[in-house]
Amino acid sequence: APSSRLSLTVNGTRHTVTVDNRTSLLDLLREHLGLTGSKKGCDAGACGACTVLVDGRRQNACLTLAVRMEGAEVTTIEGLADGDQLHALQQAFIDQDAFQCGYCTPGQILSGVACIQEGHTRSPEEIAEWMSGNICRCGCYPKIVSAVQQAAG
Ligand code: FES
Repeated sequence: APSSRLSLTVNGTRHTVTVDNRTSLLDLLREHLGLTGSKKGCDAGACGACTVLVDGRRQNACLTLAVRMEGAEVTTIEGLADGDQLHALQQAFIDQDAFQCGYCTPGQILSGVACIQEGHTRSPEEIAEWMSGNICRCGCYPKIVSAVQQAAG
């Protein structure tokens, strides 16, 4: 199959990789770069478990072709903490008990970071609407909204 060579930055580190042209950004992260924090739920854009930031905007990594990422800056859950210092939203998920099994949590947190950065936090309803593409089978939705509210200050 045709393959391409590309360079991208993930969590501040530049990588040059050669991938099959059909490879998703999610598989690039998980299988080529060993960053397994981004989860594969549906692999079809329906669950949000694979949510990452691409140039600061949230994106479903399963729907994104790796070859489109030339020059992109990608942020995954592995890149949010500053050393031992958790990101404010990671700490808020702990404080608010906003997960049970945790499988959807990395995607929830990246989506929540985008929610805060883009200012969609004026009400619990607005947060819930923004987060509606991130499915939680444990039903932690109210606590997830509380966590985003806490981190938004
Ligand atoms: Fe990408 Fe479900 S794995 S949206």
